[in-house]
Amino acid sequence: MERIAVFASGNGSNLQALIEGVRAGTIPAVIALVLSDRADAYALERGRKAGIETRFVDRKSFPSREAFDAALLAEVNGRKVGWVVLAGFMRILTPDFVRPLAGRIVNIHPALLPKYPGTHSIERALEAGERETGVTVHLVDEGVDTGPILRQEKLEIRPGETLEGLTERVHQLEHEVYPRVVAELVTGTIRIPKGTR
Ligand code: GRF
Repeated sequence: MERIAVFASGNGSNLQALIEGVRAGTIPAVIALVLSDRADAYALERGRKAGIETRFVDRKSFPSREAFDAALLAEVNGRKVGWVVLAGFMRILTPDFVRPLAGRIVNIHPALLPKYPGTHSIERALEAGERETGVTVHLVDEGVDTGPILRQEKLEIRPGETLEGLTERVHQLEHEVYPRVVAELVTGTIRIPKGTR
């Protein structure tokens, strides 16, 4: 069975959706590691509760981003992990991490990329008066939210919708889409854009 590592900096609701997918058997994989750059990330607690090995890797204890990324890579390499699944991991990974794992890192983003990369994407789409937004699952390359797109799903923005309401609906959609795409990745049933692995 494929082994995956999940990287998360925050709440970890997407991690939870993946944990449940694994538990239900819809994602035929083992989550071998939950890694966070924040000691207080609730994602770590979710990992522990699910009996998954967790690691906190502190950026502050490394002299450079490259040294930090080398430590992340060592965590992944030591566990024979086939996929690194980013779920709200708030650090930009350097080529030192991305290159050795080319085409094996996946991310979910709460907007229809290439629109609204970076942070506060839901809010920016709402404030721009967009009539629709959505979620994007993409492979991670050396840019910020720029890698090849694997799946996008749209969501209509309702007239007068609040940021709170829209955020809730975007997250719900993420929790449906991400487990499905991760299942397709580990079973090799999704088309991976050429030249990425
Ligand atoms: C999600 O909106 C995801 O798209 C973005 O970060 C957020 C993480 O939320 N990359 P959670 O920690 O999974 O609840």
